[in-house]
Amino acid sequence: MSVRCIRPSAGLKGEITIPGDKSISHRSVMLGAIARGTTEITHFLKGADCLSTIGCFRRMGIEIEEKPDVILVHGKGLRGLVAPSDTLNVGNSGTTTRLLSGILAGQNFLSVLSGDASLNSRPMARIMTPLNRMGAHITSLHHNDCAPLKIEPGILRGIHYQSPVASAQVKSAVLLAGLYADSETSVTEPSLSRNHTELMLQNFGAYVSSTMHSDGSATAQLEPCGELYGQQIAVPGDISSAAYFIAAGLLVPHSEILVKNVGTNFTRAGFLKVCEAMGASLSLLNKSFEGGEGRADILVRSASLKGTVIEGDLIPTLIDELPIIAVMAACAEGTTIIKDAAELKVKETNRIDTVTENLKAMGAPVTPTADGMIIEGRADTPLSGAHIKSYLDHRIAMSFAVAGLAASGETVIEDSQCVDVSYPEFFVSLESLS
Ligand code: S3P
Repeated sequence: MSVRCIRPSAGLKGEITIPGDKSISHRSVMLGAIARGTTEITHFLKGADCLSTIGCFRRMGIEIEEKPDVILVHGKGLRGLVAPSDTLNVGNSGTTTRLLSGILAGQNFLSVLSGDASLNSRPMARIMTPLNRMGAHITSLHHNDCAPLKIEPGILRGIHYQSPVASAQVKSAVLLAGLYADSETSVTEPSLSRNHTELMLQNFGAYVSSTMHSDGSATAQLEPCGELYGQQIAVPGDISSAAYFIAAGLLVPHSEILVKNVGTNFTRAGFLKVCEAMGASLSLLNKSFEGGEGRADILVRSASLKGTVIEGDLIPTLIDELPIIAVMAACAEGTTIIKDAAELKVKETNRIDTVTENLKAMGAPVTPTADGMIIEGRADTPLSGAHIKSYLDHRIAMSFAVAGLAASGETVIEDSQCVDVSYPEFFVSLESLS
């Protein structure tokens, strides 16, 4: 077991460039593989999850070159994948599993997807239901609606899917299967989830439209297209990774950090809104826009935070940031209420449970609820250093490493190597600011 000791910090200073966005890195390999021609990806995230995606496509005959500064995906077109000789290993990655299932549903060969213990216990009915409705043949090998998934050849038809959850993974799985369908495919979700798939599909030459409805729901619609075409993609820094450094800069007194090249797509930027609602003042500098994705450098200075309410349509725009937001709330003055976030239960761990357990270990008053948690923040009482169980969940390890910087005494993060999933250099970057 790998452990990390975190000691209280007297102030964090400097600048840091955030590694590439995980969601966009996955999608760039997937679309590159099924496009015609070569896709060049810069600032690709070489985290374990995205490497799982690369591994799966290599097993299906796609040549992918990993150079120091660029990834070259030599795509073979929509019908160019070949049958894998063995089970496709998706590791810890829900995004690989769900999005790849959408692509595999339309192939004329059999495939099996399987991952680690956490991945193989996460719900897959959410993608099996719409994909099978399109004509796919996906079954759960252990009959528990989880991976391993067996995907047999199917002839797909376009459907309209009314998704019960706002999930970009569900939406993307259906849209990617729609590339292989005979007619238009559309997905309506209760509120808008991250839209990287829609943006990137458009850039690769697909016809995709997005509509926001007056009740807050959103529809993405895809027309059948003959082929996609290889692109050049500059992946922005991952706002979900930037969030740890923004939080650290806010919580540790006497800090000033420039967090560079952060993706600011509005479907992902709820964390920045919450920081403002809690009383932080962040400066967004050097704003730019490429491939439909906004980016900026974010200047963070220490601030006194206050409690807030996080709910409704905001939740899908910050779902992965809720563990670090909970840590911020514990260090803020007053009550923070997180609700409408039952999706937290089906992430790499049940994050309502793992956040609650670890915040309690650090002395914070937190009450778990069915769809979130209530945190009674006490700005005048620092968290106490504690032994933190990451349960191999990268976001729990990183959130509580930041908590340790603002706590009294030493904090020990167990199984800290799990940060490799999304941010292999996390601890090196953190040390560089101390
Ligand atoms: C992701 C979507 C989100 C997010 C996950 C990455 C994606 O999951 O939590 O880390 O890349 O599409 P859901 O779609 O299940 O909300």
